[in-house]
Amino acid sequence: MKVLVTGGAGFIGHTISKKYIEKGYDVTILDNLSTGKKENIPDGANFIFGDICDSEIIKKLGSFDLLSHHAAQTSVTFSVKNPLIDARNNVFGTISLLESMKGKVNQIIFASTGGAIYGNIKKIATEKHAKNPKSPYALNKMTGEKIVTMWAKQNKTKATILRYSNVYGPGQDPHGESGVIAIWMKNILEKKPCIIYGDGNSVRDYIYVEDVANANLLSINKEGIFNIGTGVGTSTNELFQILKPQEKATYQKARDGEIERSVLDSSKAKKSFFWESKTRIQDGIRLTFSKEKRRKNK
Ligand SMILES: NC(=O)c1ccc[n+]([C@@H]2O[C@H](COP(=O)([O-])OP(=O)(O)OC[C@H]3O[C@@H](n4cnc5c(N)ncnc54)[C@H](O)[C@@H]3O)[C@@H](O)[C@H]2O)c1
Repeated sequence: MKVLVTGGAGFIGHTISKKYIEKGYDVTILDNLSTGKKENIPDGANFIFGDICDSEIIKKLGSFDLLSHHAAQTSVTFSVKNPLIDARNNVFGTISLLESMKGKVNQIIFASTGGAIYGNIKKIATEKHAKNPKSPYALNKMTGEKIVTMWAKQNKTKATILRYSNVYGPGQDPHGESGVIAIWMKNILEKKPCIIYGDGNSVRDYIYVEDVANANLLSINKEGIFNIGTGVGTSTNELFQILKPQEKATYQKARDGEIERSVLDSSKAKKSFFWESKTRIQDGIRLTFSKEKRRKNK
């Protein structure tokens, strides 16, 4: 099985790449290292430094059974301030990549975002929930889904859209504006304050990255759109209590483009490819903490 993972030097992409290599797949990673890191690239992967818009590089890569498209501009707040850069990576970049891969791929797995494209969710969202993107990032990811689906149909390729909820785990970049768990863990390890933007009552569906990687394994050869979440909502205040019980958080003004509640129903993925998230948030945080401490002490 030959796989091209775009964004494979990033947080989620490198975890998936590791899983594919463990399975014995032949993995090539394409990444421009804009947010990804060279040290994330797993042993056994073939690394190509390059941009998804660089068709000259991509056309030389040959054919693949699977294109796992994870390269993206991933910050909601960055996209609000820089909508053109977001569109360049998430819309133009996706079209450019697919055009360079024409006739050279059997399946595309596209990393989308259930955490952003549905907007505010009253209780829990299935894949049929209305879309209400609140940021350029969400809008452009939603467009990316349409591009992949249309292109796959035109080119007789399988399209698999995985709409992740909020992913956390070891190797997540704590320097960006996204990924509250990674940012707080870094602050805790450095004895710095943890900031809550808004009143702390906004709710997210936090999913452990290993569970997301398993979904990428199990969805090979499965077509369609699938939510990949836990179905469990955790407020920012509750999250703070899990990470720093008995302490008080520092509150600041809510940020633009953020949503109030996002929780995903993933029963379609369970029915279609027998996937469900296995890691409770308390366990996932414990695992992440111990791996990050080890990483820091190396
Ligand atoms: N982290 C989450 O909670 C979450 C939730 C839903 C969806 N996603 C999606 O999952 C994917 C991976 O996200 P992540 O959290 O691992 O982010 P990340 O920033 O760690 O990974 C993105 C990777 O893509 C690379 N990249 C960015 N633009 C590129 C370009 N133009 N050409 C080549 N490489 C490029 C970066 O260097 C990085 O390695 C993204 O598509 C993101 O939208 C993430």
